[in-house]
Amino acid sequence: MRQPIRRIAVNTGGGDAPGLNAVIRAVVLSAERRGWEVLGIRKGYEGLLDTSKTMPLNRDSVRGITHLGGTILGTSNRGDPFRMPAKDQGDSGGALSTVDRSDEVLQNFRRLGLDALIAIGGDGSMRIAKGLADKGLPVVGVPKTIDNDLEGTLVTFGFDTAVTVASEAVDRLHSTAEAHERVFVIELMGRYAGWIALHAAIAGGADAALIPEIPFDIDSVCRKIMDRESKGRHFSLVVVAEGATPIDGALSTKGSQEGGRQPLLGGLGETVARQIQERTGKETRTVVLGHLQRGGTPTPRDRILALRFGAAAVRVIAERRSGVMVALDPPLVRTVPLADATRRLKTVPLDSDTICTAREIGLCLGDEWE
Ligand code: F6P
Repeated sequence: MRQPIRRIAVNTGGGDAPGLNAVIRAVVLSAERRGWEVLGIRKGYEGLLDTSKTMPLNRDSVRGITHLGGTILGTSNRGDPFRMPAKDQGDSGGALSTVDRSDEVLQNFRRLGLDALIAIGGDGSMRIAKGLADKGLPVVGVPKTIDNDLEGTLVTFGFDTAVTVASEAVDRLHSTAEAHERVFVIELMGRYAGWIALHAAIAGGADAALIPEIPFDIDSVCRKIMDRESKGRHFSLVVVAEGATPIDGALSTKGSQEGGRQPLLGGLGETVARQIQERTGKETRTVVLGHLQRGGTPTPRDRILALRFGAAAVRVIAERRSGVMVALDPPLVRTVPLADATRRLKTVPLDSDTICTAREIGLCLGDEWE
């Protein structure tokens, strides 16, 4: 007969997203109701390699955190146990290489007397969770990312907050753009997917939105701006996702990052603004919203989704299921295999109703418009 579940762990990995604390709270409260203990793993997966980075969680530790941004467990986007940075001793002159320390994770998991792990994170964290599940560690994933680019779930928590903050920025820039008859370029997050930029541009009534899914032609954007000029609209708002690229052009980056991490994106807003000013003669300014989209209070919608995901993950463990991720499939929260959630990124489908709507209300997407 199988041993009853006594002790589970929870961690938060990758870039933070508003709603992480709400998931943790739901996990702890639902687990306590079942008589289980909960151990918080600090800084992503690091606490499973260095067990001093763990903390017991109970009703008191999660009191009053539903509305707080960040994560009480800390997070990291560097600690992949399958590819931990290690200093090469040999001929490579101290260059960073990686070592697989996933066996240590499994040993520590057993040593800590854990029965299951709830891993909250984005695509990177879900891939690690899948790797650990494949090695026999019971794990349930909870999807998080402001970018909303995780396959398998209609939406991730954090996205609604990011869109809310970004739309408000577009709203606020409207009045000052109109007052000064300027063009504003607003650079938003979105490395591979344009969900935030597209939604904020539509909700905020911007004039153009450049997203990674549609390589853009700057002349198309300038035509839109000049068309507005000819109709007496002497200001324009152009939203760009940081990961958008010009036709035949490359990603705008601020250089590489250590430890094999993806290059730091940035600079597209400035480039687009300069090109618009050169081509149209209109004074053009740039606003980069950056981490404002990730910090602070989650919207009520994100809080509720996060709480639902946390409670659902505990239910899944009680059913002795593993290797799955909880996912929103309205009106239900269901599960999808981690293998399905990590196969590819969820980008904006070009035939989606949202893209059609954008085009039909006259939003220029950097390709042909009219
Ligand atoms: O994955 C979410 C995200 O916000 C991306 O859009 C962005 O490129 C990245 O995180 C920035 O991460 P960091 O805070 O590590 O620079």
